[in-house]
Amino acid sequence: MKVGVIGASGFVGGELLRLIINHPEVELSFATSRQYDGQFLYKIHPNLKGFTDVKFSLFDSSKVADQCDLLFTAVPHGSSYEFMNELVNSGVKIVDLSADYRLSNPDMYDKWYGFTHPLPDLLNSFTFGLPELHRDSIKSSKFTSTPGCTALTSILALAPLIQNKIIDSNNIIIDSKVGSSGAGVKPTIGSHHANRYGVIRPFKPYAHRHTAEIDQELSNLSENSVNVSLSVHSVNLVRGILCTSYASIDSDITEVEVWKAYRKFYSDSPFIRFIGDKKGLYRYPDPKLLIGSNFCDIGFAYDKSASRLVVMSSSDNLIKGAAGTAIQNMNLMSGFDETIGLWTPGIHPM
Ligand SMILES: NC(=O)c1ccc[n+]([C@@H]2O[C@H](COP(=O)([O-])OP(=O)(O)OC[C@H]3O[C@@H](n4cnc5c(N)ncnc54)[C@H](OP(=O)(O)O)[C@@H]3O)[C@@H](O)[C@H]2O)c1
Repeated sequence: MKVGVIGASGFVGGELLRLIINHPEVELSFATSRQYDGQFLYKIHPNLKGFTDVKFSLFDSSKVADQCDLLFTAVPHGSSYEFMNELVNSGVKIVDLSADYRLSNPDMYDKWYGFTHPLPDLLNSFTFGLPELHRDSIKSSKFTSTPGCTALTSILALAPLIQNKIIDSNNIIIDSKVGSSGAGVKPTIGSHHANRYGVIRPFKPYAHRHTAEIDQELSNLSENSVNVSLSVHSVNLVRGILCTSYASIDSDITEVEVWKAYRKFYSDSPFIRFIGDKKGLYRYPDPKLLIGSNFCDIGFAYDKSASRLVVMSSSDNLIKGAAGTAIQNMNLMSGFDETIGLWTPGIHPM
């Protein structure tokens, strides 16, 4: 199967290329960049040297159908509107990685992104590309929209608790820490090394855009209203996300029963791991152990005296939080085993 990548010079694009090149069932047909047209991929992604002789090219939407069977679009939000109508009619499958097709209600773009969605009719054509929640729909989809990294890591922690009515869905707090690659390759004043190094910077204490995806997905699992407060902090990592979620329990459910609910919910999900050791260093999820892997690790502490669950979930924002889940979606959309090209642990020590 031939695949192409738009936005291939970016951080997510680079990881997509790395995973595609090593995937036994697919061949990289093209990789687009406006800045690096004509240059070898390894000039920008030096880790790929020796693995491919494909060069960056300019994107031409009229040629896509002849060049590939499936296309990854890894461009910033708002960048694909001018060509997406043409692409969805081209016959190729699409795995989008931006926020542009994640929300099914177009009004949410006015509310969370501050603009009116120019292609509202397309929103229902895209399946929310979170395999752990929508595996069967993804299998039969032509178009999927990969979740945001913080949204994905939060939703995976909370979905079993919401579906099983274990926590009060109306009062959930998510505290998230994210590495610098989450903001993409384009330098900003905030990403300047002198300003970024060593920080624990409250980046968005409330009203982060990923709240919209979390609300959407958790609400679909709940009969009650869902109210989530998400705070995002920039921390001194290049990669990695740790989401710590706080939620109240008003039943006498036991810790063992909470674990059972998690295990049942994710019984068919190879990339979810549970971290629950009582002793030692690795008692809770740790993003450092997930670098380069497609796993999302989940664990929790049960604070009985406060009737509260403190749930930790972790992922590599560029892999499970982006390129890895996109490949997982491609695998499902193409009838491949879900884990092909992704079954590798993180690097340790890092
Ligand atoms: N970084 C993460 O952790 C992460 C996680 C989940 C989802 N995402 C989403 O994935 C997408 C890519 O993220 P990223 O971090 O890889 O971004 P990035 O590093 O900024 O890369 C995006 C690439 O897209 C190209 N591009 C930018 N504007 C464009 C435009 N108007 N038209 C066509 N191409 C354009 C640029 O390449 P040229 O200038 O060379 O053409 C750029 O290298 C974004 O929508 C982001 O929100 C990112």
